[in-house]
Amino acid sequence: MPTYDLYANDPGDPHWQVPASGAARFSWEYDEGRDRLLALYQKGKDKQWDGQKRIDWDLEVDPYDPLGTPEEAMTLYGTRHWDRMTERDKGELRQHFASWQFSQFLHGEQGAMICAARIVESVPDLDAKFYSATQTMDEARHAEIYARFLHEKIQLVYPINDNLQSLLGDTLRDSRWDVPYLGMQVLIEGLALAAFGMIRDTTDKPLPKQILAYVMQDEARHVAFGRMALRDYYKQLTDAELREREEFVIEGCHLMRDRLRGVEVLENFGIPRAEAEELSERSEFLQLFRQLLFSRIVPCVKDIGLWGKRLQQAYVDMGVFEMGNSNLDLLMAQDEEIAEKLDAERFAAEERERVAEVEEAIKEGRSLAG
Ligand SMILES: [Fe+2]
Ligand SMILES: [Fe+2]
Repeated sequence: MPTYDLYANDPGDPHWQVPASGAARFSWEYDEGRDRLLALYQKGKDKQWDGQKRIDWDLEVDPYDPLGTPEEAMTLYGTRHWDRMTERDKGELRQHFASWQFSQFLHGEQGAMICAARIVESVPDLDAKFYSATQTMDEARHAEIYARFLHEKIQLVYPINDNLQSLLGDTLRDSRWDVPYLGMQVLIEGLALAAFGMIRDTTDKPLPKQILAYVMQDEARHVAFGRMALRDYYKQLTDAELREREEFVIEGCHLMRDRLRGVEVLENFGIPRAEAEELSERSEFLQLFRQLLFSRIVPCVKDIGLWGKRLQQAYVDMGVFEMGNSNLDLLMAQDEEIAEKLDAERFAAEERERVAEVEEAIKEGRSLAG
């Protein structure tokens, strides 16, 4: 079914055109790659998987409760609007929120694919081009999976959120080759990763859990790539150049914090924009969620060497400064382990089923023979 038939709101023109600037760069040195980057490229090739096969699409999903979200976690919970809603309304609200969230993941994945392709084009070194080519493929697979989940299971799609679109535009329009890394790999992906993780760890629904766990397994490589490439490059920049990057990060973080309200959904339920904004600002659950969303960005920014006074102060003001101390390597290792454990559990369960079927068949065979 055309996605245009599933949009909750009109997404406008079928194409969004961002004019490209900057150079396409070739490299004639084919044998001087950095070992760590080439190892990551090898891993990127080895760990490709196919979402059509690895994910169990036969699992049913209730479109009116796709994630098993508890009532208290809904923005409207405890307001007069909630009290007026019927069970049916609440189901629709859940569907819209899940659709909004996964639609942002979907558009973000398309953005990640385009940024990864841009990096292939513009980054000077061949080892980084090679790696980014595998990431382009990873992001294509992710977009494919989220699109299928939205089409088949949630059956409703939201247009890209204004703030996400604006950050994506800034990221792509910039001619400095490191900015797609910073905007996409560090900010947008860091944020998405935290959001994926919170849903992966709280949902009791098996299909979205599989999707998120497997996608996160790939994202661990993407973040590692951004960190490696930027850490090397930022060591050579002047203070003034570093401060420019920090400004970009501060602005991006503000945009991303405001992105996460889902105000569009509440507006679709007849709540005026100003009130919708106020309700989302007040929701205790959303406040916590918004802070946790920075759990992957802050340590990453610190790690690549963007840790000037203004940036530190911005994080203090946002209440996320302490997150700079969390251990990114540990988080990434856990993401990989969770996906592998999920595979092991699923295959063990299938194996038990298969054994039970064989035993059943043997028993039947015996009774026929007897
Ligand atoms: Fe992705
Ligand atoms: Fe990614």
